[in-house]
Amino acid sequence: MSSAPKQEFDVIIIGAGAAGMMCALEAGKRGRQVLLLEKAKKTGQKILISGGGRCNFTNIFARPESFLSNNPHFCKSALTRYTQTDFISLVEKQGIAYHEKKLGQLFCDGSAAAIVDLLEAECAEANVSIWRDAGAKAIRQCDDCFAVSVNDRSISASSVVIATGGLSIPKLGANDFAYRIAKTFGLQLVTPKPGLVPLTFDPKDKMRFSELTGISADVMIHCRKTSFRENLLFTHRGLSGPAILQISSFWQTGEPIYIDFLPDVNCETLLKDKRRDQPKSNVAKILGEHLASRLVVKLLAEFPSLPELGNCSDKLIQKLAAAINRVKLLPNGTEGFAKAEVTVGGVSTDELNSKTMEIKSVPGLYFIGEAVDVTGFLGGYNFQWAWSSGYVAGQYA
Ligand code: FDA
Repeated sequence: MSSAPKQEFDVIIIGAGAAGMMCALEAGKRGRQVLLLEKAKKTGQKILISGGGRCNFTNIFARPESFLSNNPHFCKSALTRYTQTDFISLVEKQGIAYHEKKLGQLFCDGSAAAIVDLLEAECAEANVSIWRDAGAKAIRQCDDCFAVSVNDRSISASSVVIATGGLSIPKLGANDFAYRIAKTFGLQLVTPKPGLVPLTFDPKDKMRFSELTGISADVMIHCRKTSFRENLLFTHRGLSGPAILQISSFWQTGEPIYIDFLPDVNCETLLKDKRRDQPKSNVAKILGEHLASRLVVKLLAEFPSLPELGNCSDKLIQKLAAAINRVKLLPNGTEGFAKAEVTVGGVSTDELNSKTMEIKSVPGLYFIGEAVDVTGFLGGYNFQWAWSSGYVAGQYA
């Protein structure tokens, strides 16, 4: 502990992304003197690029089961106290038009900038001071406050909220500030890794599937006990599309993934029925009625000279069906933080009070949003976590 600089603010929130702005406006509404620090020249940079520029700001079906964490129960309190309905009410109060795209995903009809404008307007109404181009460098604990060094000065507050996000998209300024501060205060981290990220093939599979770049298919994808039904896209480096992004957050290096390319069709039954009714038919042609022919050719590549269906044994039909309904692939990695939508892992939830987001061992210090080991599925869940965790911290900081 060292002597305190003059205390100028009640709360300093570091990072003006989704979580930081929500926290700032809530703390401001309580009459707290709030300073929001943002390293970049503008607030809400990730909001602006999210959802293809239209911001998938929440999901109608958000619930704790849609979030990954070493402690799956941790997110329950915040998600219950500030729900998707609460954020939708805020969007409606500001007259922002929106629509459901699919699977409960809510997007702005117009630009994502409307969400940033909403948060800035609410912050202004709550008398939040926002300093842009003001990156925090370090935090020091004083007798009864925290001193934050920013640019060439030190400012102090009785509460500090770390809302600096994770490591995804470093070219937008993502950095390890939250983890460095956590280490300074002796807090545990769950090792961060890229999430919602394309997976890459080893050279052999890259060659095998090279002609499929740009082809997409509606698949069921499995990794360990988790599965998703979504679209998959072949890329020149491997696999992408919502199905792959979803499963990537669960996938660990060295593990296989299993893909069902015809989730509504039991290929064994289909082929056996066709063998009975059309024995002279060709396997690739039959499967080509359900899937892109180029994809069928690649999936059946290990069966170079197939007989007419009438001459296919039960055993061969089972193998052919597995080549479509249960394709095992071994990705060799991900496209990394440069392409990841989120960071899986972060400040361990063991360190935090789930009701307040305050560090149990350091009263007055809070972590919220993506910096924490809570990661949502694809589809508006990550912003919901930012709103919910920001909201609860804003009630106590
Ligand atoms: P976020 O990263 O948004 O904000 C952190 C802020 O802290 C940044 O403004 C940063 O500049 C600032 N900062 C960092 N260090 C600092 C320092 N030392 N001092 C001061 N400021 C500092 N999610 C979703 O639900 N729906 C969607 O449509 C999308 N789409 C999407 C697209 C793309 C391309 C990406 C990369 C991500 C998404 N996401 C998403 C994920 C979503 O953007 C993400 O989960 C939230 O932005 C996390 O919000 P935070 O406020 O926690 O961090």
